[in-house]
Amino acid sequence: MTASTSSTPEPATQPARPGAYPDGRTPLADAVLAVARRDIATFHALPLSHGRSIRDSHMRETYEALFGVAQLAADVSYSGTMLDSFFRPRGPLREAQRLAARSFGADATFFLSAGTSTANRVALTALTQPGSRVLADRSCHQSVHFALNSLGVQVAYAPMQRCCDGCPRTYADLPRLLEMFRAAAAEGRPFDTVVLSAVSYDGVRYDLPTVLAELAAVHPTVSVLVDEAWGAAHRFHPRLRPLTALHAVETLRAADPRLAMNVAVTHSAHKSMSALRQGSYLHLIGDGEAQERTAQALFQHHTTSPSWPVLASLDLARLQAETEGESLLGRSLGLARTLRVELATDPRLSAYRPLGPDGHLTDAAQLVSDDPTRVLVDISALGITAADFRRMLFDEYALYVARESGDAVLFHIHIGVDEATLLRLLDALRTIQRTYRSASAALATGTSEHFIIAYPPGIPITVPGEKLCERTLSQIDTLRSSGCEIYTLRNPTVSARELAVQAAATGSVPVTADHLTVESLTGENLRGEGLAAEQLGTERLSTQQLAGAAAAVSAAGTTAATVTAAATAVSTS
Ligand SMILES: Cc1ncc(COP(=O)(O)O)c(C=O)c1O
Repeated sequence: MTASTSSTPEPATQPARPGAYPDGRTPLADAVLAVARRDIATFHALPLSHGRSIRDSHMRETYEALFGVAQLAADVSYSGTMLDSFFRPRGPLREAQRLAARSFGADATFFLSAGTSTANRVALTALTQPGSRVLADRSCHQSVHFALNSLGVQVAYAPMQRCCDGCPRTYADLPRLLEMFRAAAAEGRPFDTVVLSAVSYDGVRYDLPTVLAELAAVHPTVSVLVDEAWGAAHRFHPRLRPLTALHAVETLRAADPRLAMNVAVTHSAHKSMSALRQGSYLHLIGDGEAQERTAQALFQHHTTSPSWPVLASLDLARLQAETEGESLLGRSLGLARTLRVELATDPRLSAYRPLGPDGHLTDAAQLVSDDPTRVLVDISALGITAADFRRMLFDEYALYVARESGDAVLFHIHIGVDEATLLRLLDALRTIQRTYRSASAALATGTSEHFIIAYPPGIPITVPGEKLCERTLSQIDTLRSSGCEIYTLRNPTVSARELAVQAAATGSVPVTADHLTVESLTGENLRGEGLAAEQLGTERLSTQQLAGAAAAVSAAGTTAATVTAAATAVSTS
């Protein structure tokens, strides 16, 4: 590896050919589109490019259905002057990186098509040397830990802390991290590098203006890696920008233009901006030497086959963020607020308890706060696991939630979530609550107010007035895991106590299935079913009929693992 392999981008302020790529342009995306539109035949690699290797294949349709003709044309392997050199860019890639650096306020920006996992490794390779003393936030992503482990550096971890009992989020104990940093400097053995995970998966943001100012004040030549994987878009909204690393550096530079600290900031653009998967920015605050080291580290760690569509998407995502980011993020912030308000006030959503943003990370001394685009929700009152809840949202409502932690699930209200999507989510949450809340109430020990019926075979496990013990509950669990659907049916006009008293007095259970009508086994409960709600709405149902209803639900394709039709029944007396 020599300096001639460098991809050191030039300072962001001056375009190489002034006017060549005026603002509002996307030089790299334009260049990739231009080659994709030409019918270029390649004698290099990528037989699939332009769909050539599958032109006469029986698999062509499947390829095109999955990737589309445009993607097959855009996935090219050209390099050098044909498109640009990834490691030593001189053309559209360099221009695109320059525009990104200017937009984010960095001295240089590198595009990666291998995710922030690689960007973190590249940054740490550039910011450390064997033997460097590194102070790392224990809550960093695995990529940071793996990189540090292989770089021959001495690592001290700042401890992690938990938000509170009811909330699973973890983050660095930042006051303690600063204390460790100050103590090491006072002993004459300052840390050379600090690593911070500043915008977490779980929606915790660090007070970077305070933390970076303190680090610079104690040891002005310290190097810092700020992993803002989840916060790439934050730059583009005035409410979110103040806590970002690059904004904090701008403030520090305004106070002292000779700021000596090198700062690398990594952004998974694909997590919060309109970039393709694995599109990542590595921004650098640092002089030519720091930029050169970063270029060398990129050469060392990045694949030599970068994805040009991914790199082009980083160019497009930057322009979209510049022009539309504020309004899109404004919508996200509004929708996140709406979701929290609905969860807090709608009785049909009372089983969901939003965690934060108010009342959780409110201690300013901890130097952390909530990411307002995240909504963390405790679902324990539903009586199902967060894993089952996620699976159900995906299978039955085509809604995907990535994060589950304990009894909580995390909704990321990113710029791709619009009003209609939020309404779909709220509808799904209401239906799930209707279904599961009463089911979980039914499945508690004590005198049951419910019919609890496993289908098949459709014979009640309990009828109202019978006792439910732990053993029965565990049998119900076993039945459920073996594929049975568990149905519960309640008689709200007779309390469990009355039932127990009557049962004790008469030696028999006072209410039977034949005396029940199903009122709320509605079309909504029976999504996509062949069983009309009207047919059920007022009819008397026998146990057999109930089993038939269960069969219809089952035949409608509703999954056995997730369906508990909790119908509320009233006695017709
Ligand atoms: C804090 C943090 N850093 C880095 C990464 C890795 O990012 P990428 O998926 O772009 O490789 C993640 C992934 O979730 C993350 O949460």
